[in-house]
Amino acid sequence: MQTRPHTTPHETPHNTLVVSSSPREDGNSHVLARAALEGARAAGHDVEHVFLDEYVQRMLDNCRRCRRIDDGNCSLDDRYEELLIDHMLSADGIIFAMPLYFYGMPGRLKTVFDRLFCYTSNGSPRQDEVVDGIMGKKIGVLISCEESYLGATQGVIAQFQELARYLHQDLVDVVVGNANSRGEIVCDPSDPVARARDLGTRLFTTRVTDYRLDTVRSSRVWEQSA
Ligand SMILES: Cc1cc2nc3c(=O)[nH]c(=O)nc-3n(C[C@H](O)[C@H](O)[C@H](O)COP(=O)(O)O)c2cc1C
Repeated sequence: MQTRPHTTPHETPHNTLVVSSSPREDGNSHVLARAALEGARAAGHDVEHVFLDEYVQRMLDNCRRCRRIDDGNCSLDDRYEELLIDHMLSADGIIFAMPLYFYGMPGRLKTVFDRLFCYTSNGSPRQDEVVDGIMGKKIGVLISCEESYLGATQGVIAQFQELARYLHQDLVDVVVGNANSRGEIVCDPSDPVARARDLGTRLFTTRVTDYRLDTVRSSRVWEQSA
């Protein structure tokens, strides 16, 4: 495996959560998810892998209707809360693996973000815990799609960028591979599988910058180039 010059694997171990959002557990985005898990593990991180369809069955509803009157908790009866509290909040970095559906993310994955609202809004008894816990994470995105033109994934990449900005997270990288039939992503000559593994390896070591005019910084990007 090739490592980019700016990566320093085997730094501090971090918790890496990989979220598979395709219902096809033998599908293409799962191949990318597995590669990212391998990369993270090889870099010495603690890894965890979840399939969204085991956790998210219900969509966001009207919180005024479905928040429990006695304790203010969400009453939607699936495992979303377990996913959020026990897996997402405790992760230092999250890699979302997804098929492209109609130029966007699958509805189940979008629901993960929609329902975050129930836990971060003022009426939530877990507001502080969830607001504090969801910020500061490193985020990676793995996308499998049939079409190769850049516009196909532009919308969803922009959405992840905005989500990361809003949630005070770093969007580290996005890997896009082209495939349709199950597993054929390994045939994509741009080797998205290797790129997914690399993303898993360097999720916590990649330099992510977003300057403003007055940001104090060196004129060099790489100190070793001095
Ligand atoms: C409901 C649905 C919508 C899709 N929409 C698109 C699309 O807009 N653009 C595209 O390139 N591929 C689209 N595809 C193809 C999938 O993104 C592609 O087959 C992907 O590799 C599936 O990933 P998976 O095997 O992990 O489920 C769509 C597939 C489905 C089932």
